[in-house]
Amino acid sequence: MKRAKITIAGSGNVGATIAHLTVLKGLGDVVLYDIMTEAAQGKALDLQESGPVEGFDCLVVGTSQPSDTANSDIIIVTAGMARKPGMSRDDLLDTNVNIVKQVVREITPYSPHALLIVVTNPSDVMAQVALQESGYAPEKVIGLGGVLDSTRMRSFIALELGISCEDVGALVLGGHGDGMVPLIRYSQAGGVPVEKLLDPETLESIVERTRHGGAEIVHLLKTGSAYYAPASSVVAMMEAVLKDKKAVMPVSAYVKGEYGIADLFVGVPVILGRFGVEKIVELDLLPQERQDLMNSAEAVRKGFGQA
Ligand SMILES: NC(=O)c1ccc[n+]([C@@H]2O[C@H](COP(=O)([O-])OP(=O)(O)OC[C@H]3O[C@@H](n4cnc5c(N)ncnc54)[C@H](O)[C@@H]3O)[C@@H](O)[C@H]2O)c1
Repeated sequence: MKRAKITIAGSGNVGATIAHLTVLKGLGDVVLYDIMTEAAQGKALDLQESGPVEGFDCLVVGTSQPSDTANSDIIIVTAGMARKPGMSRDDLLDTNVNIVKQVVREITPYSPHALLIVVTNPSDVMAQVALQESGYAPEKVIGLGGVLDSTRMRSFIALELGISCEDVGALVLGGHGDGMVPLIRYSQAGGVPVEKLLDPETLESIVERTRHGGAEIVHLLKTGSAYYAPASSVVAMMEAVLKDKKAVMPVSAYVKGEYGIADLFVGVPVILGRFGVEKIVELDLLPQERQDLMNSAEAVRKGFGQA
């Protein structure tokens, strides 16, 4: 069977960590694409040299040549600036929109059948920019947001209850920004609704911590933003596609009227398989939840208007 080819544009903290997880899981050959050619080559070679110890045969190359990315099955865009303390994701817009446009223009023509995962922030807006620049079908472009926000919320619930995080499910919809919509009603531990296990004040503090989960890490790191949980989240999305898992995950997807929102990327639950977004799952939302989702979508639309 042909090994998958995965191009990761941006070999910084998130990109390199995705590359590491990709080869450890043997998901495919990796191309680290970056304007910093030698840094990408150095990281690629270092990863390659871990193969004999880890027991993987994936090839890893670093490059700044678009043609080296040809015939990728997955393209992941992490190129761009990360937040520093005090910055919101939207503060990155002006810089990152140019970088994402450039990268997508450079590499997507070489891989017309790839699935594109956009990580660069603000990721919902950048996914829309990437859709426009690539000309890909909308179901082949997704942004990182909900999987990361939900894994943060799952961690906070598990830590609060002192139980295995594996047993905890949580769902965060909306744009990947301060207006994201963590849904307590759709969060559970081993099938038991969290509302039966935690008091309302604790649940509200978990919701707030989830909304500001990225900023909490930025504040601690000082020089950049989170990358371990983001990379794990991207790899989960990538695995769903490569293994045609039909996994139900919240991702930033192009909605065409679902949830009353049209022509925009926003975090919604989708079925993710080898064709990309195979279905958008529409949940019954309470009026306040629906309003929160609309507000979050409007913030994304406004950001795109400024891109
Ligand atoms: N959507 C999410 O949930 C999420 C989570 C974490 C990080 N992010 C975002 O991902 C991006 C990357 O974060 P990071 O921590 O890896 O940053 P980083 O600074 O460590 O890495 C960025 C990399 O992009 C490269 N780059 C810049 N311009 C380029 C270009 N034109 N072509 C190719 N490569 C280019 C840089 O050389 C660098 O290696 C940031 O925008 C960050 O905000 C998003």
